[in-house]
Amino acid sequence: MRLGLIGLGRIGAFHARTLTALPEVEALVVTDAVPAAVEAVAAALPVETATSPEQLLASGVDGVVIAAATDAHAELLVAAVAAGVPAFCEKPVTRDPADAVAVDELARRRGVAVQIGYPRRFDAAFAAARDAVASGELGSVHTVRSTTLDPAPPPAGYLRTSGGIFRDCAVHDFDAVRFVTGEEVVEVYASGTARGGDPVFAEIGDVHTAATVLVLESGAQAVISNTRYNARGYDVRLEVHGTRDSVAAGLESRLPLRSTEPGTTFPGGTPHTFFMDRLADAFRRELAAFTDVVAGRIPSPCTIADAVAVGWIAEAATRSLAEHRPVTVAEVRDA
Ligand SMILES: NC(=O)c1ccc[n+]([C@@H]2O[C@H](COP(=O)([O-])OP(=O)(O)OC[C@H]3O[C@@H](n4cnc5c(N)ncnc54)[C@H](O)[C@@H]3O)[C@@H](O)[C@H]2O)c1
Repeated sequence: MRLGLIGLGRIGAFHARTLTALPEVEALVVTDAVPAAVEAVAAALPVETATSPEQLLASGVDGVVIAAATDAHAELLVAAVAAGVPAFCEKPVTRDPADAVAVDELARRRGVAVQIGYPRRFDAAFAAARDAVASGELGSVHTVRSTTLDPAPPPAGYLRTSGGIFRDCAVHDFDAVRFVTGEEVVEVYASGTARGGDPVFAEIGDVHTAATVLVLESGAQAVISNTRYNARGYDVRLEVHGTRDSVAAGLESRLPLRSTEPGTTFPGGTPHTFFMDRLADAFRRELAAFTDVVAGRIPSPCTIADAVAVGWIAEAATRSLAEHRPVTVAEVRDA
């Protein structure tokens, strides 16, 4: 199939490598607002180039991957839907979840499939944790713990437009909790700090370290942990505890933790230092799934509605942190 890729920054250039290596992708057409980014990818990979998203969408692509900066997502998604081209779009769909609802309605009306990029859904261990919950082998789930610890903050320019740690980073944990438990989140309490980090965090009203409690519809409690300063490496983990059994995803040899138990050498591997390294296989499976969506073999495995649900959790967390109180999802969603 012939695919398009719009946006060739950090994640887009990585997706270009993954897409050109997928057997089903016969041709990849790429574009970016910055011509130098297009030239760099075209010099390294077997791709065609387009001078604009409009030209790319008019070039007969079967599907398009949108990896441009967040502020461009809605416009590019609307253009793809209007052209009848199935789209994969990086998270978040829009900064304000209410705007994503309108894009969702348009895509449904036009019958165009859209997949949103939450790669943990395609990590083998996260998927196995979901299966363990769904099969009932854990009994009644009472506790989920989800962790995303970055080794170092992204550039200040990225942080300034990111919307803050909940909308940018914790959304991956929020999506994982919904995905693994199959439950909706009803209430959020978030705490965080900017102390001791780069002054940009305080300047933009963001935090570099956050702890968030999510109350699920069954009453189960999910505890989310995030930081931008985890020197030992990139730590992505999820635990699910039930009345009969407990499972963990990410408990493997490259987990960046040093055990202080005498005589214990686990985890002894070289710690993951970057999300593209930790989740490389998940990103590949995610884009392979998109080729299945484009071919009509499967429905979207992560819909705009899923991303909107996650967006409201992030809004509730942002408000909870600002106002120092628990916030229900309904309070931000139905305002
Ligand atoms: N799923 C994940 O794990 C994950 C990880 C990283 C980033 N992301 C998301 O991917 C998106 C891009 O992040 P990034 O880190 O690659 O950012 P980046 O700033 O490195 O790259 C963004 C690129 O988009 C281009 N661009 C902006 N507007 C455009 C437009 N209208 N048309 C064409 N190109 C345009 C820019 O020139 C730039 O090259 C963000 O929305 C981010 O939230 C998702």
